[in-house]
Amino acid sequence: MAHTCNIFAILLCALAVNGQTSAKTSGPRNLIFMISDGFGVASEALARSYTQQTTGYPSNWGSVLDSVLVGLTRTRSNDTLVTDSAAGATAFSCAQKSFNGGIGISADGRPCGTVLEAAKRKGYVTGLVTTARISHATPAAFAAHAADRNMEDLIAQQMLGIGIGLNSSANGRGSVDLMFGGGQCYFLPKNNKAGCRSDDVDLWQTAQSQGFTALNNRQQFDSLAFNAPLPVLALFAPSHMAYEIDRNPAEQPSLSEMTAKALSLLHSASANVPADHPGFMVMIEGARIDMAGHDNDPATHLHDILEYWKAINVVRNFISLNPSTLLVSTSDHETGGLTLGVEPEYAWYPSVLKPVQRSAEVICKELNRMTGRAQLDRHIARVVMPQYLGITDSSATEVSTVSEAIQSGFKACKRAVGHVISARARIGWTTSGHTGADVGLYAYGSGSEEIRGSMDNTQVGGFLASYLGVDLDSTTRELANLSTFQKDVEKKRQHKHEHR
Ligand SMILES: *[C@@H]1O[C@H](CO)[C@@H](O)[C@H](O)[C@H]1NC(C)=O
Ligand SMILES: *[C@@H]1O[C@H](CO)[C@@H](O)[C@H](O)[C@H]1NC(C)=O
Ligand SMILES: *[C@@H]1O[C@H](CO)[C@@H](O)[C@H](O)[C@H]1NC(C)=O
Ligand SMILES: [Zn+2]
Repeated sequence: MAHTCNIFAILLCALAVNGQTSAKTSGPRNLIFMISDGFGVASEALARSYTQQTTGYPSNWGSVLDSVLVGLTRTRSNDTLVTDSAAGATAFSCAQKSFNGGIGISADGRPCGTVLEAAKRKGYVTGLVTTARISHATPAAFAAHAADRNMEDLIAQQMLGIGIGLNSSANGRGSVDLMFGGGQCYFLPKNNKAGCRSDDVDLWQTAQSQGFTALNNRQQFDSLAFNAPLPVLALFAPSHMAYEIDRNPAEQPSLSEMTAKALSLLHSASANVPADHPGFMVMIEGARIDMAGHDNDPATHLHDILEYWKAINVVRNFISLNPSTLLVSTSDHETGGLTLGVEPEYAWYPSVLKPVQRSAEVICKELNRMTGRAQLDRHIARVVMPQYLGITDSSATEVSTVSEAIQSGFKACKRAVGHVISARARIGWTTSGHTGADVGLYAYGSGSEEIRGSMDNTQVGGFLASYLGVDLDSTTRELANLSTFQKDVEKKRQHKHEHR
């Protein structure tokens, strides 16, 4: 954290030299909107109790998020009480309810202007940061308009402004100035072996010809100066970035590291535009909290939450130096129906999660490569249980549950591994999908006192728009003729994207 503070201190000094100030009522204002995808209030309690117990903090200790709780967000979509991330993010980005699967479109299927697009049109510098593919539902809903979240060929294209028709930036490149995340494969043509598009479009090339600095590895990220010019497109994995529990720091930056660099770049870019610059708007997503919830994998869920807390700390440090900045953090929905305590006991055991070394996803990929029941059982009993999960007294039943689940497929294997840990920790799950429960709403900084109570997800979106002083309707009108369809999407749907 000291590292981060130094970076911002340098920026603050640079600003002071330029004679710029950040008054609350006039001048630039920044919005940092954070989405902890699939993070319910039980997820917060899980991470809090874990941290309190494993570090020996007092029993009334609260997290950085607990200290900025302002209310609850209601999550339903237009067509169901249990939203997906596409409709959930659209409620925030457009302040309108969509149907599940809809990206930046209203319930009647028409494109809706987003807070990010409207902010860009007003002169804000804009960014999207995620640990998922950048074309995945949540970031997509801020800068693309598609009838279905699986239309990622179309979405990636729109995120560079192609086919959008909005003339947002002076050089015609679309609405997003900074993109950090995973998902390079949707920017590469199908003949590229790292590509996953169904066409020959090379968006990596397009981005560079639009002026983007395009990066795809840790070394390039580290050498990117903290005041490097925008636009920047940095995609660190072909698909999603690694779970925090599995992440190799030599290969990929963490969410908090991406957050620190993004804030610094956005801040320096917005400070460099002429005097009346409005500031910046960024959406930062802890995306894989949700995916670990789908797998009912508690330690993986935990470590992505702890990393999200770190990112929140980075943001709070930024705000202490740049007070005309608002942080709003909430979730699109809860995932897994997580509960703490499984009958008959009145207890759950956080310390069970402590020795877990790998995600169920990585464990099951390894198990998938083995053949024969005997080899599997031996590997699970001798390696997976003691080394990866910290279980030194595994039962024959625990071993065979995992071993048998593999025959039913990858998803069953991941849940079986998650359930072995969860049963010992007395953690319960009701589903491998989402639930309709409310989620926490958190805010800090300039204007945070104006967001409070039980808010519909669309009201959160409306609040973001009013904080930025932008008009979503006029942006919506400009998008009227945009095509939101990608022809081959039904075909793709059958074999892709199990995480919704
Ligand atoms: C869903 O959208 C339709 C069409 O726009 C609208 O009439 C209806 O009230 C919406 N329902 C909800 C729950 O948002
Ligand atoms: C969009 O911007 C480009 C480049 O500045 C300009 O040539 C073009 O006419 C603009 N298009 C519209 C519809 O305003
Ligand atoms: C959309 O298309 C219609 C019919 O071609 C046209 O009249 C209208 O001006 C277009 N709207 C925009 C915003 O481009
Ligand atoms: Zn999900």
